[in-house]
Amino acid sequence: MWKIGDIPVEGKVILGPMSGFTFASYRDFMKPFGVAVSVTELTSSAGVIHDSERTGSMYVGFGPNYPTGLQLFGSGPEEIAEAASIAMRMNPNISFFDINMGCPVPKVLRSGSGSALMADPGRCGEIVRAVRKATGMPVTIKTRLGKSMESINFREVLDETVSAGADVVAVHARTVRERYAGRPHYDLLEGLQKELPVPLIVSGNIYSLEDAI
Ligand SMILES: Cc1cc2nc3c(=O)[nH]c(=O)nc-3n(C[C@H](O)[C@H](O)[C@H](O)COP(=O)(O)O)c2cc1C
Repeated sequence: MWKIGDIPVEGKVILGPMSGFTFASYRDFMKPFGVAVSVTELTSSAGVIHDSERTGSMYVGFGPNYPTGLQLFGSGPEEIAEAASIAMRMNPNISFFDINMGCPVPKVLRSGSGSALMADPGRCGEIVRAVRKATGMPVTIKTRLGKSMESINFREVLDETVSAGADVVAVHARTVRERYAGRPHYDLLEGLQKELPVPLIVSGNIYSLEDAI
């Protein structure tokens, strides 16, 4: 048994967030296959703030089933924290907030969100601090190795977010430039869990329960 903040979790497999796929019904469907925790697809903080009815029904609203985090993307601490506190009031079934610090999609990057945040690890920490303060709920982050193999900086992002109170950190073992293709660089994450005071989730090319554990 391990914990996301104060939430006890049985099992080691987390259903990765996938935009366009991980709807509530898909998350529920996957549970019997050994999934212990799920995360929603990335959800726009601006959408929650300015169009909460539409965003709420599509992304934020889901029933109780198993620990599920709402993944938010946004450009800064105030925006993401405001969205998190609105979402928390909209849906008491949200177990934790996961902050997207790894999305490589140009549209998301242009708004200074997703993996663009990795350029400023201090800001990543401020986001975690702000969401925790606004909601009092567990906060997790998902990031990548770095922008490219020449600019690996996940350790700085993890150090800043963990010091700011992140309860769990997740690393997709590819760079932003690699997007979703190629072999993940698990060698760069070797021994990392032992150095971190919080649970580490890794992502990339996990095709079976055996791969995952
Ligand atoms: C279609 C698709 C949509 C994704 N959407 C998200 C997302 O919304 N948030 C996120 O953090 N990661 C997202 N990811 C990344 C996955 O959660 C995962 O980290 C990544 O695909 C690595 O696993 P793989 O090598 O098995 O594909 C997405 C991946 C795919 C393929």
